[in-house]
Amino acid sequence: MRASRSVEQIRDALRALQARDLPSHGGRTLAYVYDSGLAEADAIGLEALSMFAGSNGLDPTAFPSLLAMENDLVGVASSVLRAPDSVVGSATSGGTESVLLAVLAARDGSGRRVGDASMVIPTTAHAAFHKAAHYFGVEVIMIDVDPVTFRADAGAMADAIREDTVLIVGSAPSYAHGVIDPIPEIAAIAADRGLRCHVDACIGGWVLPFLDDVPPWTFAVPGVTSISIDLHKYAYTPKGVSLLLHRDSSLRKGHFFASADWPGYTMLNSSMQSTKSGGPLAAAWAVGQWIGVEGYGALAVRARGAALEIARRAPGIPGLRLLVAPDSTLVTLTTDDSCDVFTIADEMLSRGWYVQPQMAYAGAPASLHLTLSAATAESVDEFLAALAEATQAARAAGPVSVDSGLAAAAVALDPETLSDNDFDGLLALAGLADGDGALDLPERMAPVNALLDVAPPRLREALLLAFLDRLSRPTAH
Ligand SMILES: Cc1ncc(COP(=O)(O)O)c(C=O)c1O
Repeated sequence: MRASRSVEQIRDALRALQARDLPSHGGRTLAYVYDSGLAEADAIGLEALSMFAGSNGLDPTAFPSLLAMENDLVGVASSVLRAPDSVVGSATSGGTESVLLAVLAARDGSGRRVGDASMVIPTTAHAAFHKAAHYFGVEVIMIDVDPVTFRADAGAMADAIREDTVLIVGSAPSYAHGVIDPIPEIAAIAADRGLRCHVDACIGGWVLPFLDDVPPWTFAVPGVTSISIDLHKYAYTPKGVSLLLHRDSSLRKGHFFASADWPGYTMLNSSMQSTKSGGPLAAAWAVGQWIGVEGYGALAVRARGAALEIARRAPGIPGLRLLVAPDSTLVTLTTDDSCDVFTIADEMLSRGWYVQPQMAYAGAPASLHLTLSAATAESVDEFLAALAEATQAARAAGPVSVDSGLAAAAVALDPETLSDNDFDGLLALAGLADGDGALDLPERMAPVNALLDVAPPRLREALLLAFLDRLSRPTAH
């Protein structure tokens, strides 16, 4: 067969598409991506990814290599965590899937069904728990964190437990603020009340075991029943792989699934996907073989060093403040009244650095989130110089203002009862579309973010869902 486009043309087209993306390597994108800075580890990961891209995790007897690599990765994770021999685990497609399955297993293990179960989480728990609640009919009981330490308030969580509660959650660390919840206290409550306790270590699980003076958070803590750890984060492997570990196999049953109720093969799955590419799993295995446990220790120390250096020096920049001391490799900065985080994020982007703006929420101010990879360690001075310039520019511009009429109009809207036309109006109001609903993205996001920042969370969600709907439309052919 003759190719309809040459390989060279396709490659050029791919490059042109990718040129608009944030760079995934180079250490200047401080959210979404993780860069070890190790070219050879990346190369063997990509080789494994393509070698196993077509292999199918649907049937472990057809592709036993995938089962062997999964069991090996779970074995390494168990050893890094010094987990008891009873621990079992499954690979998933990412942190969200690991959290979804932890919630599903807790609900099913309790014998409760859709609409008949609840979980108690701190307000800082990852949004994946809200997605799990939405998918599996588990009510979320959210408890405010300590306003100074941003750590979960275990006492208040205990008081909130109801008769239908099946799960209590802590993070190690939380994404937004980078602090570790008091896991021993949370897990003790779970053990005492006969509940499951999930520790969300999606972002910290491959860093914290290698650092000194980390408060306890693993299976060494009595009462912890499951832990999620993403390999596609700090194990520096290509996207699409996380691990969900359970203290013993009886706790995992709720997310295994079999169906013989049709005339085809008996479907037998450990996670949500059925056909699942072997690529990400093989890549994680290969990268892990190259870096090794000692190598991960060195990478964790480098990333932690960068986080501590930034946490120490950034507050010396006029206008900036450290929100809370980082427990891991995530740093959260905020501003005084002289400027705003959204303008700083725009200014950083124009200087080639991505830092992630976070909206004000539940008493926590709007902030800048920084995920430090090992690859950023060598450019901390450069980063801080850019941050100082960006903050100076934001101070010179003054805090971004939201038109008071616009803010009042936005806040008065009821997201539950809005029509499609109302959404188009809202998008236009937020500067995300023209009046006819055609998307019209501004160069600078600060005015949009500032408007979203004054909107209540439900309205933020409604606006962004409408935005996503308008974004996700087929290209004309
Ligand atoms: C603590 C925590 N949990 C869950 C997730 C969700 O992971 P993913 O984006 O891989 O689905 C993240 C992602 O950053 C996280 O930081």
